[in-house]
Amino acid sequence: AAALSMSVLLLPPADAWPPADPTEPSPDADNGTTVTHPNGTSQRLPQIVIIGVRKGGTRALIEMLSLHSSVAAAQNEVHFFDWESHYQKGIPWYLSQMPYAFPEQLTVEKTPAYFTSSKVPKPTERVLSDYTQVFYNRLQKHKRYQPIEYVLVRDGDINLGYKALNRSLYYVHMQNWLQYFPLDSIHVVDGDELIRDPLPEMKKVERFLKLEPQINASNFYFNKTKGFYCLREHGKERCLHDSKGRAHPHVAPAIYPRKLKLTFQSCTSHLFNI
Ligand SMILES: *[C@@H]1O[C@H](CO)[C@@H](O)[C@H](O)[C@H]1NC(C)=O
Ligand SMILES: *[C@@H]1O[C@H](CO)[C@@H](O)[C@H](O)[C@H]1NC(C)=O
Ligand SMILES: *[C@@H]1O[C@H](CO)[C@@H](O)[C@H](O)[C@H]1NC(C)=O
Ligand SMILES: *[C@@H]1O[C@H](CO)[C@@H](O)[C@H](O)[C@H]1NC(C)=O
Ligand SMILES: *[C@@H]1O[C@H](CO)[C@@H](O)[C@H](O)[C@H]1NC(C)=O
Repeated sequence: AAALSMSVLLLPPADAWPPADPTEPSPDADNGTTVTHPNGTSQRLPQIVIIGVRKGGTRALIEMLSLHSSVAAAQNEVHFFDWESHYQKGIPWYLSQMPYAFPEQLTVEKTPAYFTSSKVPKPTERVLSDYTQVFYNRLQKHKRYQPIEYVLVRDGDINLGYKALNRSLYYVHMQNWLQYFPLDSIHVVDGDELIRDPLPEMKKVERFLKLEPQINASNFYFNKTKGFYCLREHGKERCLHDSKGRAHPHVAPAIYPRKLKLTFQSCTSHLFNI
């Protein structure tokens, strides 16, 4: 049980983004933070960001989250905070990557690389645009030490064995995120459980996001050939791509510590290089 598969949901604070000015509807995404389309939808900066982790079931999570009528998901991984070339384009570009959503919908993007990206929660290490400076200033207000255990214990359940987390590199990153974001803005989904039995995990996600309970058993059916659950929405059935549907295989305990060490070394050298 050494391998750890998890998806991490983050709710950026409501005031994290520059305010939208509804009195000045702009025709394109270049100037405002909200662009309203004639069909009533608009692109908005995300209220939910799936920040990690790679192979933690994040594709499955965003697909399942899309089953809810109050959620609009970005099509692709945006890589705004972790790719310099994207980051340089600024908030208007980030906005342009967002899905068209109705006012009552929450916008979500997933970039699992954010979680381990040393850049994201470390404002001093980079030149910041005005917008993200504001973003980080907000985050600083929440800065305090928060124990990981509380994030992993929600609804009376322990989502992940946190002994495993303690031993893993994720621990370091989680500590880092918790310095900048309040506890109640982070939710961890057990990636293995999500694939094995999606409904209970999705009910927890609904509760965390304070969404009307909507996702139910009829949204999932087990495909015996594939060996995992597929999704059903408005009578239409779709399966996740095989490699995405399955949680990553457990790493044999014997080789696990060595692999972790390697990952840790390459990651810290990256940290020192920036
Ligand atoms: C943003 O709006 C200002 C004032 O309306 C205008 O001068 C500027 O060119 C706009 N910028 C972009 C990128 O459209
Ligand atoms: C609304 O318009 C946008 C932009 O053209 C489009 O991408 C989206 O699918 C439309 N949504 C609906 C519900 O019509
Ligand atoms: C994990 O580590 C923290 C801090 O090092 C410690 O307080 C906690 O008891 C540990 N939890 C487990 C389950 O080992
Ligand atoms: C499950 O959700 C679907 C779509 O929202 C709804 O039509 C159906 O009645 C629900 N089923 C149950 C058992 O609640
Ligand atoms: C179940 O999976 C198999 C193998 O990938 C596929 O051929 C089949 O269409 C799937 N059936 C359903 C009902 O999704």
